[in-house]
Amino acid sequence: MNDVAAILPLRGPVLYPGMILPVPVGRPSSLAALELHQDGGFPLVFIPQLDPDEEVPTKARMAQVGCTARLVNMVHLPDGTARILVEGINRVRRSAPITEHEGATVSTTTAFPEANDDPQQVSQLTRATAELFGQWLVLNGFNPADHELLVDPSLDPARLADQVMGNIPVSLINRIEVLEEVSIAGRLHKVVEHLIKAVAGQQVAVEVNERVQKAMDKGQREYHLKEQLKALKDELNKLQGRPGDADAFEQKVRDANMPEEAQDEALREVDRLRRLQPDSAEYTICRTWLETVCDVPWSTHTTDSTDLKRAQKVLDREHYGLELVKERVLEYLAVRQLNPESKGPILCFAGPPGVGKTSLGQSIADALGRDFGRIALGGIKDETEIRGHRRTYIGALPGRILRALIRSGSRNPVLILDEIDKVGNDFRGDPASALLEVLDPSQNHTFVDHYLDIPVDLSQVLFIATANVIDTIPAALHDRLEVIDIPGYTEEEKTVIAKKHLIPRLIKDHGLTGKAPSFSPKVLQQIIRDYTHEAGVRDLSRQIARINRKIARQVVEGTVDKPRLNATQVRKYLGPPRYFVEVAEQVDEPGVVVGLAWTAAGGDILFVEATRMPGKLSLRMTGSLGDVMKESAEAAMSWLRSRADRLGIDAKQFDYEFHLHVPAGGIPKDGPSAGVTMVTALASIVTGRCVKPKLAMSGEITLRGKVLPVGGVKEKVLAARRAGIRTILLPAHNKSDLENIPPELKKDITFHFVETVKDVLELALED
Ligand SMILES: Nc1ncnc2c1ncn2[C@@H]1O[C@H](COP(=O)(O)OP(=O)(O)OP(=O)(O)O)[C@@H](O)[C@H]1O
Ligand SMILES: [Mg+2]
Repeated sequence: MNDVAAILPLRGPVLYPGMILPVPVGRPSSLAALELHQDGGFPLVFIPQLDPDEEVPTKARMAQVGCTARLVNMVHLPDGTARILVEGINRVRRSAPITEHEGATVSTTTAFPEANDDPQQVSQLTRATAELFGQWLVLNGFNPADHELLVDPSLDPARLADQVMGNIPVSLINRIEVLEEVSIAGRLHKVVEHLIKAVAGQQVAVEVNERVQKAMDKGQREYHLKEQLKALKDELNKLQGRPGDADAFEQKVRDANMPEEAQDEALREVDRLRRLQPDSAEYTICRTWLETVCDVPWSTHTTDSTDLKRAQKVLDREHYGLELVKERVLEYLAVRQLNPESKGPILCFAGPPGVGKTSLGQSIADALGRDFGRIALGGIKDETEIRGHRRTYIGALPGRILRALIRSGSRNPVLILDEIDKVGNDFRGDPASALLEVLDPSQNHTFVDHYLDIPVDLSQVLFIATANVIDTIPAALHDRLEVIDIPGYTEEEKTVIAKKHLIPRLIKDHGLTGKAPSFSPKVLQQIIRDYTHEAGVRDLSRQIARINRKIARQVVEGTVDKPRLNATQVRKYLGPPRYFVEVAEQVDEPGVVVGLAWTAAGGDILFVEATRMPGKLSLRMTGSLGDVMKESAEAAMSWLRSRADRLGIDAKQFDYEFHLHVPAGGIPKDGPSAGVTMVTALASIVTGRCVKPKLAMSGEITLRGKVLPVGGVKEKVLAARRAGIRTILLPAHNKSDLENIPPELKKDITFHFVETVKDVLELALED
């Protein structure tokens, strides 16, 4: 068809075939064009204006393409303009410039052939278009069901593209491009592109919108809840007639009777609390701090009992023996009575586990009539454990010293610094130096905990430290301590402790009062010898508890009426003996010697074994020996070889490979006090003479053959007794140590005091 058509320029919208479009018609040339169409039978063609603002259609720049239309409806408005409804029919192209005819805009147009494309491509693009359009509709808040109202799914691909274009927001140029496109596939392609852009844009918009909405909701909810909470709190306070937190604290601070400096600081903090929002983190921090300050026993003071007799009684009631310690405590009490201001030294109880160090602290508090607190120092590596964290940290706490003081409830309690030998240090600071300040009487009246940040007076506190070994206590700390050794108990002492203290307590604990059998001394001896191997009484107490448990069960089950305890019963309850009196039998060939050792767990015996085999002269040492122990073995060997002829030993006897071994190879051992034992073992092997039975020794040696004193004599003697030793060789310098040992310990044992290694060999080796 090549016809002159009446042209209606469109300002903004683009009419596609199949599309129904309402168009207001106002320009005279456009109204004339309508007349031409209706009266003159001119086809009606809508062509988009390139610039919608241009007023005069003949001069306006217009697209090359347009769409023929059917006039569906026309309404004449009173102002002379009209409103029409048209349906797009066909794409046409202008084939001549726009001209004028009877006041209307006209032009010749040619119909527009549609290219035939690859049907598969077209169908894929069609599907994509439909799907994307569906998404776009959902994003825009349309019901997916509306899809069909807007776009008919049965449309052919070319119409589908046009329909979709008519519904999505796309620029005028892009719309014209789609109108111009000859190929259906090309048209769909463009539509898909526009859809993708539109969907993506819409997605971002939706997301932003949601986020904004959410943020607003949360803020608003929070605000409302806070308001409600505030109102509720006010109401509650009114109901209970309670003054605010701050007022209560002010009263508490004034009542606490604290030093002026502390009170000023605390009142400042109360003021701050008043200004803070009750639901802020700051408020909680401030409040907790105030609580702590008010909990410190600033002025609560207990009066020391001045009755020495009563004190003695209390101490005896809880603990048997330990005369030295009790004496020292009573002296302390006496001095305090004469001079209440005196600043006594810090006592430190040192000894193996289970000898009553910690529990003695408690009874000292009882004897003095003071409150008691325990500070476990074992494994502390961090200075803040002692001194606390600065309060600005969330979850900050006062240090252990201050916490113990608060818990004790008075300013002059007995505080046990338990296991002071196990304080460590690392990059987080040195807790030992913080302890120094705590323990120093000239500094500790102004002890500052980081958390509290106000000086607290610790000078009234009676600190008592406990330790298993003294060596690992840092020197500066050691210097401030008065060490009292608690060496461990003899079998006799253990029997009494069990009888007087452990058994009555355990019988009560197990609810066996009146029903329990009596533990005869023989039974106790059996338990101690066969089932325990310790310096203290903890294991003994455990074994007695075990027996009590079994008896309790029998009583409840009703299987026995009057329980008895004899050797067989004990075996039945506790199983076969766990330890044996070990020694004598095992020393029956040259090269084996019994030594006495001192460990953190008390005294113990150790065997030193020597042997030799053909080979070049050398000395091997095994059994997890430390450097010091290895060096004393070498000194022993050197001394022996240098004195060989004087001792009447043939030099040929040394042409061997020697091996020294100290069994229990898994346990590390160190220290110089096995020197005499090693030299005796080596001498025994080169001379072929056995060591006398039931003989043990301890002593350090020098290269010139002198025997030097050793530590832990009482523990060693105790261990020797446990092992059935009858002769003990000790350095002459240790003779005075023996005076402090109870006579029953020395009974049945012959002591020899030696000055030189030569004496040792003469006394120890069989002829
Ligand atoms: N001489 C004694 N008289 C009465 N009971 C004692 C005696 N010695 C220890 N005990 C009891 O032994 C138990 C263990 O004592 P405690 O816990 O005080 O040992 P410790 O020396 O502190 O040990 P560790 O070094 O392992 O901490 C306590 O129940 C204590 O009552
Ligand atoms: Mg303890």
